[in-house]
Amino acid sequence: MTRKIVITSGKGGVGKTTITANLGTELAKSGERVCLIDADIGLKNLDVLLGLEDHINYTIMDVINDMVEPLEALIRHPGVKNLFFLPASQVATKDMVSHNDMERVIERIEEHFDYILIDCPAGIEKGFKNATIPAEEAIVVTNPELPAITDADRVIGLLEAQGMPDTNIKVIINRVKFNLMKNGNMLTKKDIENALSIDVIGIIPDSDEMIIATNKGVPIVLDGNSKVSKVFSNIVKRLQGELIPVEADIDLFEKSGLLGFLKTLFSKD
Ligand SMILES: Nc1ncnc2c1ncn2[C@@H]1O[C@H](COP(=O)(O)OP(=O)(O)OP(=O)(O)O)[C@@H](O)[C@H]1O
Ligand SMILES: [Mg+2]
Repeated sequence: MTRKIVITSGKGGVGKTTITANLGTELAKSGERVCLIDADIGLKNLDVLLGLEDHINYTIMDVINDMVEPLEALIRHPGVKNLFFLPASQVATKDMVSHNDMERVIERIEEHFDYILIDCPAGIEKGFKNATIPAEEAIVVTNPELPAITDADRVIGLLEAQGMPDTNIKVIINRVKFNLMKNGNMLTKKDIENALSIDVIGIIPDSDEMIIATNKGVPIVLDGNSKVSKVFSNIVKRLQGELIPVEADIDLFEKSGLLGFLKTLFSKD
């Protein structure tokens, strides 16, 4: 069975594409056969984050228009075994694609993969439907700020309205500043879970390393020394069914005063 997971959000710019690139790479590193699909047609930047922008011969539009067989359009990542990528077109627009087109493309490749991750564009218009309707599961990315959480809540409602059970929806909190959270100046995991009524599957810090990796076109999970990469490894294990508490992500960055911090996090008031 292929797991088809869309990485989406309410608010734009919260880290969907960065997370798609890193989760996909980490899943492939763990031995899964992974295909990443850039559904951000017209804008596209998953190719850049993967360092694959110079490898593109065909795009998803060529597959939809029957110009090329789907498997022929996939790019095999030169440095990561089992990682494949279907690029978006920059010259097309989201209106030139329907969710049926996307579903047909995915149907034609899925038998070759354990995971298909779809990078959803910003917004809740046609591009959102195209990316989310073919998926069976969703990871909703949010920042720990109220406007992002309000928008995440809206998107969770839309996913449920499209028939996705809420047990198939998970949340990643991205760009957390642990010092602010610890001092009670940033929403905590508990606050966010209470607000969204959806399980959090990972907590990723706000990290300069992420920005540097993005600018190099090398997913941070390929940097063995990075603590952020350990968070992605935890998230992948949780996706695969391992019971690793989400607090383990925080522990990586909270060496001192951990007990005090956990008390803040789990306190009832
Ligand atoms: N954990 C992080 N720490 C620091 N910077 C981050 C982190 N996650 C993402 N970023 C930065 O935030 C910016 C937006 O990230 P990204 O493009 O992945 O967001 P997006 O949700 O895909 O945006 P869009 O809605 O436009 O598709 C990028 O510059 C990226 O490097
Ligand atoms: Mg994006």
